[in-house]
This record gives sequence, structure tokens and C-alpha cells, in this order.
Amino acid sequence: MLAAVITELKDIPKAKGADLIELRLDYIKSLNNTKLKSLIENCKKPVIATNRKKDEGGFFNGSEAKRIEILKNAIKFGADYADIEYSSGKKSIRDLIYNKRKTKIIVSYHNFKETPANIKNICDNIKKLNPGLIKIVTNAHSVTDNFKIFDLIRKANKEKKKITAFCMGDYGKFSRILSIILGSQVTYASVSERKESASGQLTINEMVEHYRIKKINKNTKIVGLIGNPVEHSWSHIMHNAAFDKLNINAVYLKFQVDKLKEFIEYMENLDIIGFSVTIPHKVEVMKYLDGIDKQAKGISAVNTIVVKNGKLIGYNTDCPGAIKSLKRRTELKNKNAAVLGAGGAARAIIYGLIENKSNVTILNRTVEKAKLLADYFKCDYGSLDDIKKIDYDILINTTSAGMHPHIGSSPVTPDCIKNGAVVFDMVFNPFRTKLLVEAEKRNCKIIAGFEMLIHGALLQFKLWTGKEAPEQLMRQKVMEFLKNASH
Ligand code: ATR
Repeated sequence: MLAAVITELKDIPKAKGADLIELRLDYIKSLNNTKLKSLIENCKKPVIATNRKKDEGGFFNGSEAKRIEILKNAIKFGADYADIEYSSGKKSIRDLIYNKRKTKIIVSYHNFKETPANIKNICDNIKKLNPGLIKIVTNAHSVTDNFKIFDLIRKANKEKKKITAFCMGDYGKFSRILSIILGSQVTYASVSERKESASGQLTINEMVEHYRIKKINKNTKIVGLIGNPVEHSWSHIMHNAAFDKLNINAVYLKFQVDKLKEFIEYMENLDIIGFSVTIPHKVEVMKYLDGIDKQAKGISAVNTIVVKNGKLIGYNTDCPGAIKSLKRRTELKNKNAAVLGAGGAARAIIYGLIENKSNVTILNRTVEKAKLLADYFKCDYGSLDDIKKIDYDILINTTSAGMHPHIGSSPVTPDCIKNGAVVFDMVFNPFRTKLLVEAEKRNCKIIAGFEMLIHGALLQFKLWTGKEAPEQLMRQKVMEFLKNASH
């Protein structure tokens, strides 16, 4: 169930997409019984009455007795749930449970600092109080903190106890969705950005539109991006829209992962269909896989994992994604391609260019690195300045020069861009880099980094599901997202 957290009364109508409304009574000014009664009656959705203490992230100002009395009044006025903190003490909790009428009592534990080592004991102690719903929310400092919380959910499920549990913070964001698949009862969302009541909280719109929270259940299969950071990625927008369109019960999440080995080991036990992999894990992840496709081996990097008969197989769709973007605009055979940069992205595109019989020259700021890569691929190399000396048909930028926030820079000066060449910039933020703007002025055929990402995503979708990805829809969803994000 999705609960909208209401901290201002005027926001109640914005909770339309939610199943429940959590009324944060501690935020509401001049609350009296008449106001409380009419609030609960007029919410038009089941209500969780919460009157949060200061030490658990709340704003309640009065005495402890007054705080509990307000919860009791909420029960009297028919709140569907009343949330009392475990730290309120057994006496107050038992008293509230004794007076609960038809209201379900949530006994909650929040830790904004960490996921403490004794979290299992805390959960067991809450269980002993026999509440209608146990709620455990902690801060994650590592992806592994989420697993401690997921274990609580799994144990409570076995014992047939109702629990809501997830982690806060950037490392815990995905748990707000994944916990529901594991059997957690409620996930909380804000009505809009900047209205979050806790770190890592998503908006109702993100939960419903981007993550399809209403369609998630215990049979939902999991797929997602492994990286660090992952915040900037919009892969979830594309893939979740595609799952929706094709009626596939799966969800794409974004996993901020610091401990890769532990992450893979834990996730293997869940219902996973695969992963995307991004910086900084594309090389290290290869150690933890059961098999690696020939192309990914040749590139020495994996950006896609597919689960096949319980085994994790690594692929690289950066290379075919980039090649497909190029091939939509140009022939590759016998063409001279100048590749700027000698890192992982260069490696992926050069592999594909050579496979397609282009003549490659690698140009890099650090010439020794260009030489190393050129030795591996048996092609030419030089410094970035050497661009002036060579004759090329295709210019490809794989460096981060020109990437947000350095949008004024470019890997080469405009006079080095050959009239009429094909110019492909792998940088996708900004959408149109300085290099592409200058290339367009010189009648070049330009290809934005966005294209490579789209084509890579289409290939990944096919690998995971065996189905053709709905390209138009995925493009449209990303364009809409980017348009809204830029305002
Ligand atoms: P990726 O996996 O994205 O390719 P990488 O392996 O860190 O990332 O490689 C980054 C590449 O971009 C390198 O070739 C780097 O040049 P150096 O080898 O000289 O470091 C290049 N690069 C990064 N920033 C650059 C800039 N401002 N100008 C030119 N080249 C740049």
C-alpha cells in the first residue's frame, strides 16, 4: 500500500494517487479535537494518525501525555491506523493497544543515524507487544544495511506478523519499493518534491508513474541498475514504461551499491531477471559472474547481466548500442574513425568499429594510454592535438569533456571538426554538447549520446525479457522526463 505523507492540510487533495493518508499531526498548527475529527472524516482514504516525537524526526512540541492523548482522540474519531513510537515506552504502547477500538496500532522504530547492529532484537521486542503493524525504518550507510531490514521482513512473514520496513538515505532508496515485493505492508511517499518527511522519500508521482508501485506484488521480478552514484540515471523511466506496456510483472530499480560482492550474493536469492551495470562496477562485476559473453570479454567490461537458469551471465550493450546509433547514420566499413579518449567507453566503441572494419585512430590527452589501447586493438594512436593531422570520416568523443557541469568545454577546438563528417558525442548530459553544436555548424551528421543509451536499453530489454522493446514509447518517456527535469 502506498501512503501519502501529509504535512500540510492543503496537500490532502494531492494524495489522490495514494491508498492511504498519513496525517502528520505533529506538523499541523493549532490542532484541536474539532479539527482532528473533521480531518479524519474528510480524508476520503484510510488514515494513519501519526504524532511524531522530536527524537524520531517529528515536530510535536507539547508534553508526552498530550501527544498520546491526541493519538487516543484520533482513535476515537475513527483513524484506521495510529502510529506510536517504540521509544514511547511499553506502558503507553500497551495503553494505546488496550484502547484501540477498530484502529490498528502501528508500533514504529525510526533511526535517522544508522541501521543498528541490534535491529533484530528491537524488532523482536516490538513483536512482543503484539501491534497491528510493526514499522522499522533506519538509515542505510551501505547497500548491505538494506539486507538487514529485508531479513526482518522475511522473518516476520514466516511468523505471520505484519511489518512495514525499509531504509532511508540514498543507499536505502530502492528499499522503499523492493520491500513491498518482499511483503512489507506500506511504503510512504511525499505529495511533491521538497515535501519529503524523510531522506530518500520519493514522490507519489515517482512511485506510481516511474516505479508502478500499484502494480507491484510478491511475484514481481526485479531488475535494476547497479552503480554509484545512480541518481542521475533515467533508465528506470524507460524500462518500467516498457514493462507496463507489455504487461510484464517486473520493476526496474536503481541500486546505489558500495559493496558489490555482498550485493550480488544477496540479490541472487531474490527473483532477479538481470541488471544494468554502470560506473564504477563495469570491470569488477566480471569477477562475480558465472559466464561472460564473447563481446563483453573482448571489451573487458560488462554493463548488462542476465539471469539464465539461475546463472549470472555478463554482456556489453554499450558497444552494440553505440554501433547501432552510428549505423543509422553511416556505413562503417573502410571508414576512418577518430576516437577521442582511451578509457572504458573508448574500449567498447573501438571493439565494435574494428568488428565493422573501420580504420581506427585513438587520440587521447594522455598519449601513453592511447598507445596501450592501440596496441591491444592493433590500430593507430596519437594525442588530441593530432586530430589536426589526420583525415577522418567519423569523429567520436568518449571523453567526459563537455559533460555537465562543464558544458562550455569540448575535447577538440571547433576548427578541428571536419566539414560534413559524422560526429558522435557519447556525452549525454547536456543533450546537445558544445562539440555537437559546433559540428552542426559545419554540416556534420551529428549523433547525441542519448541515442547510444536508448539503443543500449533496447538491447538490454530484449536480453532480459526475450521481447522487442517498445522503442517509440521508451524514447517518448525519456524525452518527457528530460523536458520536465529541465524546468
Ligand atoms: P570511461 O569509462 O567513461 O571511458 P575513463 O575510463 O575514466 O571513463 O576514461 C576517461 C577518458 O576521458 C580518458 O581517456 C581521459 O583522458 P586521460 O586518459 O588523459 O585521463 C579522458 N578525459 C577525461 N576528461 C577529459 C578532458 N577534460 N579532456 C580530455 N580528455 C578527458
